[in-house]
Amino acid sequence: MSGAGRRVTVVEVGPRDGLQNETVEVASDAKVAFIEALAAAGLPVVEATAFVSPKAIPQLADGDEVFRRIRKLPGVRYPVLVPNEKGMDRAEAAGVREIAVFTAASETFNRKNINASIDESFARFAPVVARATRGGMRVRGYVSCGFGCPYEGPVTPAAVARVAVRLLEAGCREISLGDTIGVGHPAQVRALVRAIAGEVSLDRVALHLHDTYGRAVANVWAGYEAGVRTFDASLGGLGGCPYAPGASGNVATEDVVDLFERAGVRTGVDLVALVRATAWLEDEVLKRRLPGRVFRARKGQA
Ligand code: COA
Ligand code: ZN
Repeated sequence: MSGAGRRVTVVEVGPRDGLQNETVEVASDAKVAFIEALAAAGLPVVEATAFVSPKAIPQLADGDEVFRRIRKLPGVRYPVLVPNEKGMDRAEAAGVREIAVFTAASETFNRKNINASIDESFARFAPVVARATRGGMRVRGYVSCGFGCPYEGPVTPAAVARVAVRLLEAGCREISLGDTIGVGHPAQVRALVRAIAGEVSLDRVALHLHDTYGRAVANVWAGYEAGVRTFDASLGGLGGCPYAPGASGNVATEDVVDLFERAGVRTGVDLVALVRATAWLEDEVLKRRLPGRVFRARKGQA
């Protein structure tokens, strides 16, 4: 099979989805260096931080400063997660060009995560999306708990599709379907992508897969075979959600890049530079974790 023309987009979410849940305090300087290393390795999109309530996510309270200080590479996108108008004020002041809003396919998770029902979350971010698109910003919409909810259990593909369609209608350019607690499996990925493809063009769909049960890489591949071409990932498998008990990290960026490159699918990412960044991450963050939160050693692929 020829690899010519086969490409995927890997969206790095470690500086946001990873660091939001980190038990180790990471200095602003280190966050800036982390983001710059990811972009330098060739990742086309690096989600830089979140302008959420510092009471909800104290780890990212310095997001404004971090965003401003990144030396931005031409051609690289640096979206920021924004939950409400207050976050949007901060985004505009910091010169953000792209934002992400978020809701969930589960009512209970939304209530715990953002203190709103699904309907209320749409009412809250509708003015944010309107402001962003008026200002020429690109907006991504996250759907959390697309494969299962830590509080409600199973989530149907129809429920996910409903929220996805509403996000696109609200003005999102892309939707990212999240397996927040990592319960998904390849057959479920195929079924979900099939259900979504009936409603939404797959070039506007990303998968955001967590590795709780060690299935994230298999799920990425199932998503690729089902027609998805954009995958979220986090360097070193960093991540988890403080409002999703038991959630472990995102699929590791280096594993996703390695998987695709070996299959002849181009990512544009330099795996050696990425693995070097992983070593840095290990020293700065992972080795400093408290006992009991031991970093699962990653294979040195370079
Ligand atoms: N940036 C900074 N501060 C913010 C803020 C923002 N975007 N949004 C709200 N706040 C502050 C308010 O000023 C208020 O502060 P005060 O108590 O000193 O007056 C406090 O946070 C509560 O604000 P309120 O508007 O009542 O919101 P809430 O308590 O209903 O919380 C969210 C709603 C969405 C702001 C909050 O739950 C949140 O930020 N969640 C983020 C969750 C997250 O990032 N999860 C992981 C990603 S999936
Ligand atoms: Zn995540």
